[in-house]
Amino acid sequence: MRASTSEQATAGFDRTEPWWRGAVGYEIYVRSFADSTGDGVGDLAGITGRLDYLSWLGVDALWLTPFYPSPGHDHGYDVSDYCAVSSRHGTLHDFDVLVSEAHRRGLRVMVDIVPNHTSIEHEWFARARRDQGGPDRDRYLWADPTPDGGPPNNWLSHFGGPAWTLDEASGQYWCHLFLPEQPDLNWRNPTVRDDFDSILEWWMDRGVDGFRVDVAHGLVKDTQLRDNPQIAPVVPGMDPFDAFNAFEHRHDMDQSENVEIFRRWNQVCAPRQAMLLGEVNAPWPNRMARYVGAGALDQAFFLQSAFLGWDPETLLTMVRVMHDAAPHGISWVLSNHDRSRPVTRLGGGEAGVRRSLAVSTLFMALGGTPFLFQGEELALADGVLRDYHDPVSVRNDGATSGRDGCRTPMPWDSSAQNGFSAGDPWIDSEPRLPEQTVAGQQADPDAPVHRYRSLLDVRRQHPDMWRAPLEWIETANPQVAALRRGTIAVVANLSERRTSVRLGSPGWEPAFTSQQGSRFDTPAHDTVSVPPETTIVLTRE
Ligand code: GLC
Repeated sequence: MRASTSEQATAGFDRTEPWWRGAVGYEIYVRSFADSTGDGVGDLAGITGRLDYLSWLGVDALWLTPFYPSPGHDHGYDVSDYCAVSSRHGTLHDFDVLVSEAHRRGLRVMVDIVPNHTSIEHEWFARARRDQGGPDRDRYLWADPTPDGGPPNNWLSHFGGPAWTLDEASGQYWCHLFLPEQPDLNWRNPTVRDDFDSILEWWMDRGVDGFRVDVAHGLVKDTQLRDNPQIAPVVPGMDPFDAFNAFEHRHDMDQSENVEIFRRWNQVCAPRQAMLLGEVNAPWPNRMARYVGAGALDQAFFLQSAFLGWDPETLLTMVRVMHDAAPHGISWVLSNHDRSRPVTRLGGGEAGVRRSLAVSTLFMALGGTPFLFQGEELALADGVLRDYHDPVSVRNDGATSGRDGCRTPMPWDSSAQNGFSAGDPWIDSEPRLPEQTVAGQQADPDAPVHRYRSLLDVRRQHPDMWRAPLEWIETANPQVAALRRGTIAVVANLSERRTSVRLGSPGWEPAFTSQQGSRFDTPAHDTVSVPPETTIVLTRE
């Protein structure tokens, strides 16, 4: 059964270069995409039912957020069994059907692998906790209290409070960079390494085309568990992310040995053409570049953009530096399931829509594999919530609104629950307007979904956009970026004024503009004039 699924799955794909070169990905936040059973939670069969839409949109690969058995303290990022499907999201059979139906349409499927931590309910942790002298104990990070009984060091959890919880039975603390219910694995233990090799193999046997690697920068920790240097004060009631950022994460994140693990994973995945795409939060471009250097991860996400508001100069500087550090190693993203949606973040309303598309258009021309997050193609702003569900907000007395705004259901149409579910969605939010839904936008040629679709089409029609060597064109304004690659030129004018840029040679014709109906003339000689907050793509023979 499995062998045939995987054979069928890979049939018909061109294997001459890695499939992700030139591809565009699409992140599916499984809980909120499509619910086929009416229990209010998105599921695998729901995704299968929407594959035609994704093919129509023109994406090439799907990244599915965790759908494994999990008590759900962090909505699936607390995995209790890595090789199974949670009944909340369907069955293994549903997964096999999804993969084969996706492959039949030429869509690749990537799953989310969560190696930094397991669920507190994983049998490994249950045994580790129960049997202090047993072989499973060392799969996790345990440490004795300080002499006054406090946590072993000053590390903080991303989600608030110390990164250590006391296990009363043994008198030792366990480490968790996220919730206490997400104990961190000990990646210096060879058994942990072997187990994950097998988990990767298991999913590849089922036909998956790659892995999104959760918290790839976090796996290995300092052997001596030294304190992190503090760089800013931490005050009560602070947003947990700000408290986390008040420390330099010298000893708990981005340890050099992480890269060795991904070299090993590459040996497992490369022979089967499975992509390794990391969530890497490394402080400097040269550190990022190490993860995607030869033989480790294939790419890492450009997460920095998701932390910025509308700050064109900073964004373009980061884009350039990051691109130059790893030209084909960055997966360009403007949003994901952890951040406020770009339309909201970049100014809201028309401005937010205009700016998001301008930046995404530039991202499509940077090499690497860009990803859209579900609903980004509809230019959705954050959903309006009636209640909070994210542990980051629920467990911090409202110090932050958390990550729920981007996780509200995908709006398919104007029926009840926007066609997401026949029941009550797991997350309580205001319905979307008809013009914000897939059906509403498909019927309106001026709607954002058609702009994104044409952008993907232009990228497909012009492989130079991601393949030809990239040359930056110097511009006088730091809020404007321009580049040439082969028969393509791109000018991203993120400033508030119309701007002219010299492309260095004549003969360019417009192929795409991020702004609906914006006027830009065929360039006079070698100069193109671009409206404010607009990116254009030009081609020539
Ligand atoms: C990653 C995921 C996030 C999750 C965290 C802990 O950052 O994207 O959703 O909460 O890891 O697994």
